[in-house]
Amino acid sequence: MSSIPRHVAVIMDGNGRWAQQRGLPRLAGHEQGSKSIRQCVEACMEAGVEFLTLYAFSSENWKRPALEVNGLMLLLEKFLNEKKEEMLREGVRLRAIGRLDDLPKACRVKLDEVRDATAHNTRLNVILALSYSGRVEILDAIQSVVAEAAAGTLGPGDITPELISSHLYTAGIPDPDLLIRTSGEMRISNFLLWQLSYTEIHVTKKLWPDFGKADFLEALQDFSSRQRRYGGV
Ligand code: FPP
Repeated sequence: MSSIPRHVAVIMDGNGRWAQQRGLPRLAGHEQGSKSIRQCVEACMEAGVEFLTLYAFSSENWKRPALEVNGLMLLLEKFLNEKKEEMLREGVRLRAIGRLDDLPKACRVKLDEVRDATAHNTRLNVILALSYSGRVEILDAIQSVVAEAAAGTLGPGDITPELISSHLYTAGIPDPDLLIRTSGEMRISNFLLWQLSYTEIHVTKKLWPDFGKADFLEALQDFSSRQRRYGGV
């Protein structure tokens, strides 16, 4: 493949519809969806993608019924428990972005544990967006910039795009080159609003639980055919 994206971000959509089509509870869709993650991680490692950011739970998702929210939190815990050893073995570094304090304590503890255990891994960075909102991320960045300005350590001229990037949850992580969205929806749903400015977008009608390694590789193929001009000619 001629050009491999360094960073792929994914909006994993369609779990509910997948379950509904089978007469199953929505959680069965999320459970199946967590299996697609493994397929994408494998595809990233094979292709040489360095960063994979997954939109696992948005700030807006707290509005879903408690049964579904609790089920997703349990699924997250189970996922971290089950995958920890594999991540260590495969060289995967796990991190999370978002308002992580909103998560149940058990999830936070597990996330910290897996983050710390995998901190030295370099083969693939997997970043889970949890209780994440792109607007809130920008607000949080502005608040910390303003606090530094008020303390006198920053002047108006210091406020550059690079400075803003360095105050986001994704500080130090390159902007995504490719965004994949499943289930056919043509929107970015409050995901990585600052970071997606020049990202190529690949939308597929496939529902997330049906999205596998071959689909991920197809998205990479699509990406390699794009001409990125960044506003130039
Ligand atoms: C969107 O589908 C998906 C989510 C809100 C949750 C994504 C979670 C997973 C893929 C599995 C759990 C993740 C981890 C890290 C264990 P939807 O429910 O909005 O689908 P719909 O639009 O068809 O209703």
